[in-house]
Amino acid sequence: MSRRDRRPEALVLDEGVLREGPVCEIGGSLAVEAAGGLVVTPWRDRFRAAEIGELEVASSTEGVADATFSQVVVHLQKSRAATAADLAEAWRILAPGGQLLFTGTNSVGITSAVKRLAGVLDQSPIVVTNRARARVVRFKKDAGPGPQREETPRIEAPFEALDGTPHTLVLETRPGVFSAKKLDTGSRLLLDALPGFVGHKPPKRIVDLGCGTGVLGLAAATLYPEAECLLADADARAVACARANVAALGLGERCRVEWWDAREKPLGDRFDLALVNPPFHQHGTEVDLGPALALFRSLATWLGRNGRALVVANRTLPYEQALAEEGQVETVASTRGYKLLSLKRSARSSSARGRSAPGARSGGRSRDATRSR
Ligand SMILES: C[S@@+](CC[C@H](N)C(=O)[O-])C[C@H]1O[C@@H](n2cnc3c(N)ncnc32)[C@H](O)[C@@H]1O
Repeated sequence: MSRRDRRPEALVLDEGVLREGPVCEIGGSLAVEAAGGLVVTPWRDRFRAAEIGELEVASSTEGVADATFSQVVVHLQKSRAATAADLAEAWRILAPGGQLLFTGTNSVGITSAVKRLAGVLDQSPIVVTNRARARVVRFKKDAGPGPQREETPRIEAPFEALDGTPHTLVLETRPGVFSAKKLDTGSRLLLDALPGFVGHKPPKRIVDLGCGTGVLGLAAATLYPEAECLLADADARAVACARANVAALGLGERCRVEWWDAREKPLGDRFDLALVNPPFHQHGTEVDLGPALALFRSLATWLGRNGRALVVANRTLPYEQALAEEGQVETVASTRGYKLLSLKRSARSSSARGRSAPGARSGGRSRDATRSR
């Protein structure tokens, strides 16, 4: 590199960080671009970008045998449990004596994460590079037990049918999957309002977009035993988690979970009801509404004529205007922090926008790809 890349992820390219030979990189791709090896990312857009860049890529390390790599890079994530899971996997796939490179920015907490890891491994970390408010730290794979995973508890989701019959779903969660500790307040608002809002005409085709654990779609499938439900998420960890919940609840006949990014072409149409607790991405102080807005645009295709979407959001988020592009919007419930919006597609909005989501890319590939090239 003639000019040092200022992106914090690029620290892995600094001199002296990578050794000769392939690298497994969890949560990034620059090291693999430089040295070859395997990119591991659960995010569908990054997975696709790696594929397009002709890199070897997998959505998890599940299929990687023990002691395969002599170097593994782990990029620190916001979720402590997700980072712990990545570090445990990195240790498993590292050959004895191999180097574990742990990297991240100060703003996400690399200093304390390194301290914790050093304590668990009982090793002194070697800081290989430290600039751009980020660092890369080296540990050596020894015979010790290595980093430990953190347990994510099951969550409980209570809701009532229209006739007052109480239900409670107990759902598995996974590291990195949204609402890993307890039911999100926004999801709860939607579940509380759903039966009354739908009334006595149960939907037949339901889609849960950005499904996470699957809580919204699975609650709807429980309330409406005749309905079929498609659940979709861009995070392969969420897809695996929701699939496990579908299986545990015995709903496999009626519920399907797919790996899908809101910026891709929708996977179906003519749904009666869409349930959405939209993705909310925050980088430092900046909020990125891009994925949520792409998801709203996709509703034009997902929903049939007179189909409805229920969208729950933080009260401060300005979603009404974007949703109004797709049909009639009203606020149907609100609490101190959240609002529940209803979007009704109408014949006018269907013809106005056509049936394809702007910005959508054609897929035409296996939805279950977990490793490519
Ligand atoms: C606020 S969470 C809601 C999860 C779940 N529906 C619930 O209520 O607990 C948003 C979900 O959107 C997913 N997501 C993020 N970006 C996405 C994208 N570009 N396309 C599709 N889903 C995305 C996240 O993985 C996350 O599971």
